Amino acid sequence: MKKDRRWFMGSAFGTVATVGAVATLYGMKKDWDPLPSVTAAGFTTLDMTKYKKYNHLYIEKWRGKPIFIIRKSPKMVKEMDSSSNKYKKQDDERDIFIDGSHFLMCIGICTHLGCIPNYRPQDDNFLCPCHGAMYDFSGEVTKPPAPRGFDIPPFKREENKLVLGLDSPEYQKLIKEHATLNKA
Ligand code: FES
Repeated sequence: MKKDRRWFMGSAFGTVATVGAVATLYGMKKDWDPLPSVTAAGFTTLDMTKYKKYNHLYIEKWRGKPIFIIRKSPKMVKEMDSSSNKYKKQDDERDIFIDGSHFLMCIGICTHLGCIPNYRPQDDNFLCPCHGAMYDFSGEVTKPPAPRGFDIPPFKREENKLVLGLDSPEYQKLIKEHATLNKA
């Protein structure tokens, strides 16, 4: 009888200890996992169909950085195709073709020292107010001191949407072709 009682006490204690350990581990895991809001904060989904106006600068935000978006007009695309300037190749590579249009989509921060350039739709270009760097309507640099074109954030295409913050073969191709630095 005594033995039975001891066995019962032992197994009851074991069960309580196991439940306690599982609860503690669960609590710790919950602490380690990022909150759903934090996970979601790393991504921005752009529905490209809502940027309807041609040659208009739309500005969105991704991880606190401005994202520039321009739907290129047929005239701009024609100009790009017939252009003989040395940036033509990069311009073509940098475009994102979606919803029947060519888009510029990039981080709107000057690659010189981080100012925010202004878009000048009448001239189809960007001018940085800090030290005068210029970029064409594809975000490629056309005048120093900026060392390179605007960076393109990692993105994944989902039909007519772009999810910024996700990697994809399309984004990796841009890196391989030196159309952008890896900013992931
Ligand atoms: S920060 Fe843009 S030119 Fe210097």
